[in-house]
Amino acid sequence: MKPSIALIAMVFVALTPLSLQAAGPSVPLDQVEVDVTDQTSLQRGARMFFNYCVGCHSAEYMRYNRLGRDLGLTENQVAESLIFTTDEQGEPVGTGSLITNAMMPVYAKEAFGVVPPDLTLVSRVRGEDWLYTFLRSFYLDDSRPLGVNNAVYANVGMPNPLWELQGWQEKQVGADGETHLQVVEAGSLSGPEYDRAIRDLVTFLAYLGEPMQIDRQRIGMYVLAFLFVFLVLAYLLKKEYWKDVH
Ligand code: HEC
Repeated sequence: MKPSIALIAMVFVALTPLSLQAAGPSVPLDQVEVDVTDQTSLQRGARMFFNYCVGCHSAEYMRYNRLGRDLGLTENQVAESLIFTTDEQGEPVGTGSLITNAMMPVYAKEAFGVVPPDLTLVSRVRGEDWLYTFLRSFYLDDSRPLGVNNAVYANVGMPNPLWELQGWQEKQVGADGETHLQVVEAGSLSGPEYDRAIRDLVTFLAYLGEPMQIDRQRIGMYVLAFLFVFLVLAYLLKKEYWKDVH
C-alpha cells in the first residue's frame, strides 16, 4: 500500500514544532536574556506574578510548595506572601495546592470576551522574547472595549495589568516615519526599571514552563563526575584483567 501524499503532509505538519507555527509575528520582537538559576530574579518575578497576574490567570500545573522550594522560600513565606486563593470554606488553600485562580470562567468570559488562559506553559508556547515584548507593548486605543490594545497581540482581550508601573503608551509616528510606542503618562517605574521588572517576570514564566531546568545543570555536573570516577575504575579493572595475557 502506498501512503497517500495527504498522509505524508499530515505527518510533516504534526512534526513541525509548535514554536514555528506560532512564529511570524508582524512586529520584530525585543530579545531578552533570562537566567533561571538567578534566585533573586526568580523571587522578584514570582512576586509580580502573584500580585498582578493570578487574579485572572492560573498556573495550575504547579504547586505552591514546589515553587517555594525552588525559589528558596519557607512554607510560612509561601503561605503569607504567595497564597491569595481560598477554598470553599473561605480558608486560604494549603501550600500543597495547585496554583488556581479565583475567577469564575463565566464572569471572565463576560468581562474580557475570553477566559484568561493558564500560564504554566506559556513560555514554551510563545517563547521568552515574545512574552518580554508583549508585556511591554500595550498602548491606548479608543476603538477597543477596554481602551487598550497591544502591538504584538492585536486586539488582545487583556487590559494592561501593569499600567501603574509602566504608565500609558501611545502609538506615534516618529521622525523616521515608523510607528513607535511612546510613554505619554509616566508610571512609577522608569523605562529601564520597567524592562528589568518584566525580565524578572519572564524569568519566572520561563522557570514555570520547565521547573527542572534549575536542577538540570547541577545534576549534569554530578553525572559527569560519576562518569569520570567510573572511567578511572573501569581502566584500572581493565588493566587488572589483562595483565597476565601479554
Ligand atoms: C484583568 C485580567 C487579567 C490580568 C490581571 C492579566 N491577564 Fe493576561 N490575559 C487576560 C485575558 C482575558 C487574556 C486572553 C486575551 C486574548 O486571548 O485575547 C490574557 C492573555 C495573556 C497572555 C497571552 C496568552 C496566549 O498565549 O495567548 C499572556 C502571556 C498573559 N495574559 C500574561 C499575563 C501576565 C504575565 C499577567 C500579569 C502581569 C497577566 N497576564 C495579567 C487577562 C488578564
